[in-house]
Formats: sequence, structure tokens, C-alpha cells
Amino acid sequence: MADKGKVKVGIIGSQFEATIHVESFHILPHEAEVVAIASPTPGHAAGLAKQYGIPNVYTDYREMLKQPDIEMVTIAAPNRLHCQMTVDIANAGKHVVCEKPLCMTLEEADLMIETCKKQGVLLMYAEELFFTPKYVKVKEMADQGAFGKLYLVKQSEKHFGPHGGWFWDVSQSGGGVFMDMGCHGIAFAYWFFDRPKLKKVTTHMDTHVHKELTKGEDNSICIMEFEGGAVGLIESSWAKPGGMDDRIEVYGSEGVAYANLLMGNAIPTFSENGYGYAVEKAPTTKGWSYPVFDELYNYGFPQEMLHFARCVRGKETCLATGEDGRFVQEVLYAGYQSAGLGQTVELPFRPQGVARPIDLWYNPIK
Ligand SMILES: NC(=O)c1ccc[n+]([C@@H]2O[C@H](COP(=O)([O-])OP(=O)(O)OC[C@H]3O[C@@H](n4cnc5c(N)ncnc54)[C@H](O)[C@@H]3O)[C@@H](O)[C@H]2O)c1
Repeated sequence: MADKGKVKVGIIGSQFEATIHVESFHILPHEAEVVAIASPTPGHAAGLAKQYGIPNVYTDYREMLKQPDIEMVTIAAPNRLHCQMTVDIANAGKHVVCEKPLCMTLEEADLMIETCKKQGVLLMYAEELFFTPKYVKVKEMADQGAFGKLYLVKQSEKHFGPHGGWFWDVSQSGGGVFMDMGCHGIAFAYWFFDRPKLKKVTTHMDTHVHKELTKGEDNSICIMEFEGGAVGLIESSWAKPGGMDDRIEVYGSEGVAYANLLMGNAIPTFSENGYGYAVEKAPTTKGWSYPVFDELYNYGFPQEMLHFARCVRGKETCLATGEDGRFVQEVLYAGYQSAGLGQTVELPFRPQGVARPIDLWYNPIK
């Protein structure tokens, strides 16, 4: 494919994750440049545009899609909007990067994948754990046989709850912490084991500390049993005080590795006065805190966006696809159903007509 220079990117959204996208392209600017941003909260979009020199700002993303030079659009908007946005982007002939979770329902996942295929554009699933340098190193060692035959991969992400109001509203998010953060671990285990067939899913979930805020679960544990016997164990929590925790453990017949994403790179710090910023979702910077450096790079966001831009140019094959997102969606269904029934659920599990994954926890299919 002829080199057309940097991939021109439009971003939908202007707050938490959109800022990460903007900064990621800024950190690794070799393959892509952000040329537009769209968000109905114009102040935020204009602020980001000014800070990072983004030339075009829109309040309606559909207007942005008419900008001819844009080749790839990233979606950093609430989950319930992902499907419609993907369809609109693809129909405008632009490649799609969609934040996790892919969407609300399996029907939406199918529509997103089909539309992108029909329009000849890529549907890239923004699962940054596939690009997190510390976790990628563990996967490389596993692929080199360091741990022998893998039998268990654990992933957990925990903090005291999300930053935006819509996450707590299950009609906008589709579910609680299992949907929001369990989706990372589900994708991670699937990727780590090289995408084997999934046989069974067993989950437990409850709302332990945020009952006044949400009808969603704030703690979940999910066991994924793959063909061949390997197991993924995913723990996700919005109920853990004290800031962000993200870690993996990998067990095999001949080895083991533990990787703590945040603490390994942190600076154990005591301050009576506090200071500006420690790390995502840290409740305070006074007393003991654990500030990190190069936070986005440690998570893998810039590497992820660089990879997606290279995929658009045909320089790399996409490592995180719409199909990965659809797999995660099916496991989300199975997980809510399992918790609702109090039983293990066998895959495939693809019920039609489910409005939100969490509905299967409230009213499991009998
Ligand atoms: N990969 C990760 O680790 C990660 C982390 C955080 C969030 N996310 C995902 O990113 C997405 C956005 O989450 P967030 O944390 O940025 O939420 P947020 O509340 O911080 O921001 C949401 C943004 O969506 C915009 N928006 C709302 N309606 C819109 C519309 N109709 N058109 C265009 N923009 C609209 C808002 O203006 C806002 O800028 C979610 O799907 C979330 O799951 C991923």
C-alpha cells in the first residue's frame, strides 16, 4: 500500500478516555495525527483541541464524519452509543477504533462487524491489555515456554468506582463492574491462551458498597474454563478503597509469573502536604501514596493507538478486533446469566433479544 503519511484521526468524546486517546497519539506521534474531535460538551472538546493543537472541533460527531481527510475514528463515548457510532463511521468509509466493551448486545456486535466488513473498513477493539508492556513481556515468556503448560491465568482490576455518572446507570452502561472492567480480564485470558474455545463460565457478583448509587454489581468474580483445561480467573471491583489496582498471575507446569501493573512502577511516597497527581483514581496524595511515571505508556495506550494506525496503513495485522469484542460480549452474557442462576453456564450462549447484559443477572433465562 502506498504510504500516505500519517493517518488522520478523529476522536469522539472529550473526557476521560478521549483525553487518553489524544495524549496517546501525542506520545507516539509517528504514524497518526488527531485532526478533529467531536463531543456534545463543547467546552471540553475545545479545551483539548487548544491544548493539543487539534484543528477541528465539532459538537455532533456526524458532522465530523463528513470531514474528508479523516481516515480513522476512535470512539470514547458511553457504551450504549458504540454500535450506532460504529455503523455511522463505517458508512462514512472510515476505519473504527471502538473502546471496550464493544457494545451492549450480541446483535449490536454482529451489526458492527458486518457493517465494517461490508464497507471494507477495519473494526479495531481498544483492549489496551494486549499492549500493556509488562503483560506483553509475560505473554512473550509464556510463548517461549517459560512456564511449561499453562493452566491458570488470573487478572484483576479494582478501585472504588468510576469517574463518570453514566457508568453507574445500567441503561447507559449495560452492567456494573463486570461489564466495565471484567471485559478487560475476559479479553486478556482469551488472548493470553491464544484464543481457545471457551467451554464454561461461572460467576459470582454482588453490590457490596454502592447500593445507593447503582443497580449494577460493584464486585465480580468470573471463572472461564477453556477447552484443554486452562482456566481464567477474573476479579473486578468498584468496591475496593485506596485507588487503582491491576495485576495478573500466570501459572504453568514449570513456572509462574506475577505482574503488578501499578506498584511495580510506583514511587513509594510519604507527603504531609500532598501534591498534584499520583495515579488514576488515587483518593489522596497526602500520607502514603504511590505515584507512577509514564502512566499511559505503562498501560499500553500509546502503543495500542500506534498499532491501530499501522493497521490502517496495512503495515500490521490487527491484534484486537471486533471479533474479540464479540467474544467478550458473549462471555458477559454468560457471566450475568451464571450469577443470576447461581450455576455454571455452558458456551455457546447467544440468547437473542437481551436489551442489556445485566438483565440476565436480574432475570436469567430459565
Ligand atoms: N480502555 C480503558 O481502560 C477505558 C478506560 C475508561 C473508559 N473506557 C471506555 O471509554 C468509553 C468512554 O468512557 P469515559 O471514561 O471517557 O467516559 P466519560 O464520561 O469521561 O466521557 C464520555 C464522553 O462521551 C461524550 N458523549 C456523550 N454522548 C455523546 C454523543 N452523543 N456523541 C459524542 N460524544 C458523546 C461525552 O461528551 C464525554 O466526552 C466507555 O465505553 C468506557 O468503557 C475505557
